[in-house]
Amino acid sequence: MAANIIDGKALSNRLRESIKQRVGELKDRSGITPGLTVILVGNDPASAVYVRNKERACRQVGINSNIIKLEENISQDELLWHIDSLNKDKNVHGILVQLPLPPQIDPVMVINAIDPEKDVDGFHPVNVGRMVTGQDCLEPCTPKGIIRLIQETGKPIRGKNAVVIGRSNIVGKPVSLMLLQNDATVTICHSKTSGLEEICKRADILVVAIGRPNFIDSRYVKDGATVIDVGTNRVGDKLVGDVNFEEVKQIAGWITPVPGGVGPMTITMLLENTLQAALKNE
Ligand code: GUN
Repeated sequence: MAANIIDGKALSNRLRESIKQRVGELKDRSGITPGLTVILVGNDPASAVYVRNKERACRQVGINSNIIKLEENISQDELLWHIDSLNKDKNVHGILVQLPLPPQIDPVMVINAIDPEKDVDGFHPVNVGRMVTGQDCLEPCTPKGIIRLIQETGKPIRGKNAVVIGRSNIVGKPVSLMLLQNDATVTICHSKTSGLEEICKRADILVVAIGRPNFIDSRYVKDGATVIDVGTNRVGDKLVGDVNFEEVKQIAGWITPVPGGVGPMTITMLLENTLQAALKNE
């Protein structure tokens, strides 16, 4: 039987309506308008598109958004100065430095300089540590969106075999730990893993973040599994996931499409994190 599609766009739209309402209630209650500042360094065209999309989404739900555009050749000290002044600005509840950064800047120094209470990307080691230990924190947006998509199936995560392919700090590692927090039994696979097919075939929940178009086909997927495709690969003028959708949907129980699965959820979780950070100021 063909899989059910997990519609990230529809879920995202529903969540954005709810965020908009809560933003309005916060304004009415305390006069606080949540504010997000995005720092964009240089002229990377893909980053410019992402940042514009974030700004548009903020506007949709009534969050103030500001973009600071900095020259490609800016020094690390100058960038750290901007972060410091945003840390001190009480109208700014969320700070996001768009990655990647030019080579003269160490991204670790930049992430570590952001006030953890304003770290709406959830990348600061304080937030990572809080997340791993089950404390209240700002969670990274893509993994947070993935958990919501899995919950959307209505099937429990507890006790399930979850396999994550990919171990990046942005997706693979945090989503693995979040699945663990939700009581899944988690296996993390990566480019050096041997016997990938057999491991994936045991997964009730399979999260794929490898960056190779159509890599995961039906040989890797258990009957009825929930498959989350984090891939966004440009093939010609098309956006293609890491999962061979047409083939895998014949076997999976639930599957996310690309586009329209994980993608829309990432920005929605950024909006939610900005609201969450602003609510702490009440
Ligand atoms: N570049 C690509 N994805 C992301 C993200 O989630 N956060 C930031 N800051 N930069 C990115």
